[in-house]
Amino acid sequence: MIIAIDGPAASGKSTTAIGVAKRLGITYLDTGAMYRAVTLGLIENNIRFEDSSDVENFLENLDIKFSESPTGMLLILNGRDITKEIRSAVVTSNASEVSAMKIVRESMVLIQRKMAESDDCVLEGRDIGTVVFPNANFKFFLIADETIRAERRLEDLKAIGESSSIDDVMINLKKRDHKDSTRMHSPLKKPDDAIIIDTSILGINEVIDKIVNTVKHKGH
Ligand code: DC
Repeated sequence: MIIAIDGPAASGKSTTAIGVAKRLGITYLDTGAMYRAVTLGLIENNIRFEDSSDVENFLENLDIKFSESPTGMLLILNGRDITKEIRSAVVTSNASEVSAMKIVRESMVLIQRKMAESDDCVLEGRDIGTVVFPNANFKFFLIADETIRAERRLEDLKAIGESSSIDDVMINLKKRDHKDSTRMHSPLKKPDDAIIIDTSILGINEVIDKIVNTVKHKGH
């Protein structure tokens, strides 16, 4: 069974997907974290995003793994835990550009399909219900008020010790949403058959309940 959860930045996808996976006892995959990992790797290796052969070479030697831990899911890039680093402002602001690249998307989609091939899985991202798993058993599209999303992102930044203002966070969110939804390859878009959930008017447990109840009610 595949559950696809898509939506704009800070719409509550991660918290929801983690909760759904826990309640249903299935695997959780944060595909945004994978684009962030590629972004971090390119920056650290001083690879210019427009240097397609260097990017391709980097992707060929890439080893991305998720690993469960008592503190939550860890992301391991070429053997190193990068769970915290991928949330930094510099990675966040470059992730849209990196995730817009065709070769990056093709490589990530292959890994995502492989990771989800043998287990029931809830995946969250931007193109899960449209491109990665167009035949997903369940598709949800999360939306939320812009101010609420900016407040959430500010909290995320605080948690990793980075300071910012609500106005800056709001500007960056808008920029990223614009880039993610207007790019040529696999833009952020609501799948026609997805159920929309507005997370600004619901508490996290209500959002999780809604998804879990839909899955249990319809079966698969
Ligand atoms: O969900 P997030 O903020 O961690 O995502 C990081 C970036 O990756 C964001 O700019 C959108 C992009 N992304 C994507 O293009 N496709 C996905 N399936 C997931 C994320």
